[in-house]
Amino acid sequence: MPTKIEKDAVTGKMTTGHEWDGIKELNTPLPKWWLYILYGTIAWSVLWAILYPSFPGLSGHFRGILGWSMRSEITEQMAAARAEQAPFLDRIRAASLEQVRNDPELLAYAMAGGRVAFADNCAGCHGAGGQGARGGFPALVDDDWIWGGSLEAIQQTIVHGIRNTQDADARLSQMPAYAGVLTRPQINDVAEHVLSLSGRSTDAAAAGRGAAVYAENCVACHGERGEGVRDVGGPALADAIWLYGGTKAEVVAQITNPRMGVMPAWGGRLDEATIRMLTVYVHTLGGGE
Ligand code: HEC
Ligand code: HEC
Repeated sequence: MPTKIEKDAVTGKMTTGHEWDGIKELNTPLPKWWLYILYGTIAWSVLWAILYPSFPGLSGHFRGILGWSMRSEITEQMAAARAEQAPFLDRIRAASLEQVRNDPELLAYAMAGGRVAFADNCAGCHGAGGQGARGGFPALVDDDWIWGGSLEAIQQTIVHGIRNTQDADARLSQMPAYAGVLTRPQINDVAEHVLSLSGRSTDAAAAGRGAAVYAENCVACHGERGEGVRDVGGPALADAIWLYGGTKAEVVAQITNPRMGVMPAWGGRLDEATIRMLTVYVHTLGGGE
């Protein structure tokens, strides 16, 4: 209940005029320095709200008299980054793949750009580090190449892809399904022979019989000793590297009803400089030839 403002006898300060049950409130003003900072921040916020995007409206918001926006800032930064990269990209486009590979400065740039493009476009199938994945996605970090590991061969694979329907120049090879062509015992024997090529057959008699089946049916695409035939994309069978697994059951499954891996063509999706950087990156990752 309001009473009159008076001087408090004990402290010598003025009261506010508020009193509750005989207790009077002293008037203790905020320190000046504190108040001035408060007024300062209020003024600052008003100024800020006028200069920069702030108040919401029915359609959009007040954009501020400076015209600043986060999007225009990012666009500017990206344009600056692109301008910085342009000379490198021009040089990468102009140089041969060998030259990029042999110029330390261009190589470092291509490796950095290739790593990013690989993570964006290739890692889903080939693994983050190019280590490959079960189910027909070959490792790119080794020196075992189905289609060839030279710079040119890798570039062609990336540009046109493998067994896809988008690119008429895609790499193509088709393993026949032997389900109706060979009998079950023949398939068993030739699978034993395939295992014997990497020294893993446990049935020498079957592997021996399988050699004849192999010579007749498989040599054209996989080579006499299972070394693989690049022209037709027939993978090596004599090594320990498998697209679809190297157990007997998995080999039998592939012979009976082969799976054919598909890789998309990147020629129409990625620009030339990116494809070149990817080529050099993949070549350097593994045993480039
Ligand atoms: C949709 C899955 C997929 C994507 C994405 C993909 N690949 Fe492939 N890639 C494959 C398959 C499957 C094969 C093996 C095809 C075969 O069986 O011959 C392959 C094969 C390759 C080969 C040939 C390997 C050899 O031994 O000759 C290269 C090189 C390659 N990919 C590079 C790339 C690069 C670089 C990218 C990214 C731009 C990429 N791939 C994206 C599925 C993919
Ligand atoms: C016309 C060519 C062709 C013929 C003939 C052929 N293959 Fe293949 N074979 C391929 C191709 C191409 C692949 C790889 C499939 C892929 O890349 O997805 C393959 C894959 C395989 C694989 C899987 C390799 C791996 O790394 O997992 C085995 C095993 C195999 N073939 C065994 C045989 C046997 C045994 C015969 C004979 C009975 C045979 N192939 C005949 C083309 C052929």
